[in-house]
Amino acid sequence: MDTRKEIFLKDYKQPDYYFDTVDLTFSLGEEQTVVSSNITVYPRLEGAAASSPPPPLVLDGVNLKLVSIKIDGKELQKEDYHLDARHLTLLSPPDTARFTLQIVTEIYPQKNTSLDGLYKSSGNFVTQCEAEGFRKITYYQDRPDIMAKYTCRVEGDKTLYPVLLSNGNLVEQGDLEGGKHYAVWEDPHKKPCYLFALVAGNLQSRDDSFVTRSGRKVALRIWTPAKDVPKTVHAMYTLKAAMKWDEDVFGLEYDLDLFNIVAVPDFNMGAMENKSLNIFNSVLVLASPETASDANYAAILRVIGHEYFHNWTGNRVTCRDWFQLSLKEGLTVFRDQEFSSDMGSRAVQRIQDVLTLRELQFPQDAGPIAHPVRPHSYIKMDNFYTPTVYRKGAEVVRMYKTLLGSQGFRRGMDLYFKRHDGQAVTCEDFYAAMRDANNADFANFLLWYSQAGTPTVKVTSFYNSEAKTYSLKFSQELPPTPGQALKEPMLIPVAVGLLGSNGKDMPLTSVYHDGMLQVVSTDGKPAYTTVLQIKKKEEEFLFSDISERPVPSLLRGYSAPIRLDSDLTDADLCFLLAHDSDEFNRWEAGQVLARNMMLSLVADFQQNKPLALKADFVHGVRSLLSDGSLDKEFIAKAIDLPGVGEIMDMMDIADPDAVHAVRSFIRKHLATELKAEFLKTVENNRSSEPYVFDHSNMSRRSLKNIALSYLTSLEDAQITELALNEYKTATNMTDQFAALTALVQYPGKTRDDVLADFYGKWKHDFLVVNKWFGLQAVSDIPGNVENVRKLLKHPAFDLRNPNKVRSLIGRFRESPVNFHAKDGSGYKFLGEIVLQLDKINPKGAARMVSAFSRWRRYDETRQTLAKAQLEMIVSTNGISENVFEIASKSLA
Ligand code: ARG
Ligand code: ZN
Repeated sequence: MDTRKEIFLKDYKQPDYYFDTVDLTFSLGEEQTVVSSNITVYPRLEGAAASSPPPPLVLDGVNLKLVSIKIDGKELQKEDYHLDARHLTLLSPPDTARFTLQIVTEIYPQKNTSLDGLYKSSGNFVTQCEAEGFRKITYYQDRPDIMAKYTCRVEGDKTLYPVLLSNGNLVEQGDLEGGKHYAVWEDPHKKPCYLFALVAGNLQSRDDSFVTRSGRKVALRIWTPAKDVPKTVHAMYTLKAAMKWDEDVFGLEYDLDLFNIVAVPDFNMGAMENKSLNIFNSVLVLASPETASDANYAAILRVIGHEYFHNWTGNRVTCRDWFQLSLKEGLTVFRDQEFSSDMGSRAVQRIQDVLTLRELQFPQDAGPIAHPVRPHSYIKMDNFYTPTVYRKGAEVVRMYKTLLGSQGFRRGMDLYFKRHDGQAVTCEDFYAAMRDANNADFANFLLWYSQAGTPTVKVTSFYNSEAKTYSLKFSQELPPTPGQALKEPMLIPVAVGLLGSNGKDMPLTSVYHDGMLQVVSTDGKPAYTTVLQIKKKEEEFLFSDISERPVPSLLRGYSAPIRLDSDLTDADLCFLLAHDSDEFNRWEAGQVLARNMMLSLVADFQQNKPLALKADFVHGVRSLLSDGSLDKEFIAKAIDLPGVGEIMDMMDIADPDAVHAVRSFIRKHLATELKAEFLKTVENNRSSEPYVFDHSNMSRRSLKNIALSYLTSLEDAQITELALNEYKTATNMTDQFAALTALVQYPGKTRDDVLADFYGKWKHDFLVVNKWFGLQAVSDIPGNVENVRKLLKHPAFDLRNPNKVRSLIGRFRESPVNFHAKDGSGYKFLGEIVLQLDKINPKGAARMVSAFSRWRRYDETRQTLAKAQLEMIVSTNGISENVFEIASKSLA
């Protein structure tokens, strides 16, 4: 029997039964845990509308041992229900307006390596229920449109598990016989079961409090093993900042008197927004200047914000079904991006977010596992926690804001909460709130949710010097994706400004479009940026009163998740790089120049022509480096070359060796030409002050460290000395790790010594050791797969821990040289690991296998090798649905 069932959005049906209250009791044990659940059930249809006899009640359940079931206190007999590996079906529920269902199950958290459901991490009990983990705890209608009020009683050994937590408020606690104790938690808010959480263990907390704007005092606790409590300062600071920000920006206040965060070392994803009991991967909570880098601090800020913001966008208003996941994730990612912008630099944040979109989402959208922001079907929902649902979903939310303005967007959000608080809703409901709150005309915007693929927008421009008009012609094209051959044009907001020869924005007064005049100015004041709405396949906009041929700044702030194909010349791009008032587009102009240059050098490399770097490019980087008026982090981003993946993504046949060679060539060449400037940059940006995580210090460090990494590409003994010195004198992990990274680019004794030294210093800290694994895994030194194989056997490595897997296996896949090695050694390695990992943790294994999905992008030799691995995987007996779905779709 093939149990791999595909589930379709179009098949959604309302449940026949709803649950009102759920009372759970967990008796935690060393062998097994007993879960008793007591649910009040009511049918959706009553009286005349109801069918007679009542429909069966189908409950989900996986890996559970059923101990007993009672309805209204009466034990069910074998003929009253049907049990299989996935469901418990109650064949004839009572014909009453309400009944109680009591189910007792036995589960084995100690044996649960999937980290889904109830499991153990470092001796503590923890849960992860999204998307479908609750069914591994007890029989239930495990779907988000079943919302109920929960109580949870937890019983366990008092010495082993002194802390017993669940959602909501603690209402009772006390001692039990046999060295046990208990706690009873009550959550006053209705919730779907994916937001249920339980934690029991030996933990300590950092305590603080936050007073909401209506004056309620909320207790805040961040729980970790005792030794890590000192590392929660930044997380606590962030949590309070997030609570304040959501009040200030969205008018959203926290709704309970307690908010808990628990950090655990074994966690599949980043973190989870369980109601009032967020559970986090410890890498996203724990930080100290000595052990965490700026990037870690920033990630903690983003994710603590993200999970907190889910309290309204996800928990108070949740998803009707899992196809709607982006309703909460796209929106909440948008919110965390805005929070990070307000806490740091908006332009740099935008650049970073767009980079991530291009690195992770664009390739997905162009390959065999492309799916819309709202997928049409899935085999395993776990496989749809993707960059498309999260990142492209956030861009879709951002487009509402671009189209409606900040105030219009806020009106839409307010209406969304007013209409849907306490409900499980769909992406259309969000759309309707935005539309209705603004009387907006949103023709074909909803297609962003249903059509996969990244649109390409072509722009051509024409200046009429006699009529003083400037025309921009747009055409949009959406490529076919699996299951979607033909696409409709979508509404694409393109923010545009026009630069005059003095480098300043020209005032924009009016635009003609479709024979209609649109006034651009607001309150009589001219605008300098206007948002053009591309709705049809082809559109033309005509600006009047344009006194000279402008240089257009198109798609300002990256106003839509598209590929822009414009007729700008290199001279125009250089002009924008020097003058654009839109900082994002200033950076983008440099990136377009660099991408074009890299692509042409790649062609040279492939034809065995000598490589040469244009003098204006070197000059451009020199002037960026010495421009004191620019934000240092902006400079660091602007002088960083587009990644290997981004360039490969633009080629007809991706050539990892060529792109890698070209990128290394440019880096080395820039370092040679600009050695003095880079040295000065390192000199001028050191600091002996204690570590502070703020924008100005982060900017300074990032500029210094990118300069250092350019310099070490020279393989020059004097520079190696300098880098070693930076490594030894560093007072924080950001600087220490940057120096280490710079030093290990090339094989040799220095590399070996400094890696050994770093491990020796940090072997007691598993989060730092993971950085050490990752750095070696991603290395482009030739034949590194052997080294990675050795590291698999390193005593600090463990295939059961997702962070370690991500560091060693995940990062290895990013090496163009070694993962894509032409002898197939990298592919073979990944294929083997996927099968091993699948037996332990299918969710994690499916994530690893996705690196093969783009196999058709490479040359024939690589295609054959990668395909062979995928075929080997799908034909292996007993692989999980998770891995099967990704591997088989990749082959299709
Ligand atoms: N909702 C979590 C977040 O904040 C992620 C949960 C992931 N769960 C999973 N099964 N993949 O994004
Ligand atoms: Zn989320």
